[in-house]
Amino acid sequence: MSSMCALTKRYGDLGAVDKVDSSVAHGEVSTFLGPNGAGKSTTIKIPTSEPRQRICTSGLRQKRSTFMDNNGTGNAAESLSAPPVGASVWEREIFDHLTEHIVQEQGLFEEYVYAAKETESKALGYLINLLIEDERRHHSLFRQLAESLKSEAELWPESPVLPRMDFNKENRVEVLEVTARLLDREENDLRELKRLRSELSDVKDTTLWALLVELMERDTDKHIAILRFASKHAKDPVF
Ligand SMILES: [Fe+2]
Repeated sequence: MSSMCALTKRYGDLGAVDKVDSSVAHGEVSTFLGPNGAGKSTTIKIPTSEPRQRICTSGLRQKRSTFMDNNGTGNAAESLSAPPVGASVWEREIFDHLTEHIVQEQGLFEEYVYAAKETESKALGYLINLLIEDERRHHSLFRQLAESLKSEAELWPESPVLPRMDFNKENRVEVLEVTARLLDREENDLRELKRLRSELSDVKDTTLWALLVELMERDTDKHIAILRFASKHAKDPVF
C-alpha cells in the first residue's frame, strides 16, 4: 500500500494543490481525472520532488478513482466503487446511506468553497474556511466508515481501514492510564477556556475572539467524549 496524505503545493499566493489524499494498493490501478489546470501532474510529482510531505503508513484499501476539481480539492470528490460483495442486507443499506451522504457532503463542501471565494467579507471568509476544515474531515470520516464497512463485509482484513475495538484485558491498563492522564489535561483546558470566554464577554459582539474560544470549548468537549469512550470500554470490555 502506498498512501499520500494532504499533499499540498503552492506557487507564491497561488494554491495549485490543496490537501489531496490518495492511496494505491499493490497491484491496483488508480487514476486522477480532471480538467486542464486541476493539478493532476503537480500532485503526481509532489512525493518525489518534495519528500518531506507526509506519506501515510496506513490507509484505504479499495480500488477507486480520484476526481479533482480545478481548485485541487481532490479529497472532497472521491468516489467509492461498487457496494460490498457478499454483504448482508443491513450492511448494504448502511453502505448505501453512507455513500449517499458522501455525495451530499460534497455538494455542501463545494458551496462553502464557492462562498469563501466570493464573499467580500473577510470575517465571513475566515469563518467559512473554518467550516471547510471541518467538512474535509467529515468527508474523510464518512469515506473511512463506508470503506471500512465494505472491506469488513468482503474479506475481514488483518489491517482494517478503521481499527477494531481492542480495549481488552491485554491493553486495558495502558488505555485506562493514558485516558485518565489526558482527561485530566482536557478538563483543565476546558476550565481555562470557560474562564477566558467570560473575560472576553465585553467584546463578544464586536470581535471573533469569544466565538473562537467557544469553538475551542466545543472541540475540547469532543476530545473528552473520545477519551471517555475509550476509558469506559477499557473498564468494561465487550470482548
Ligand atoms: Fe459535514
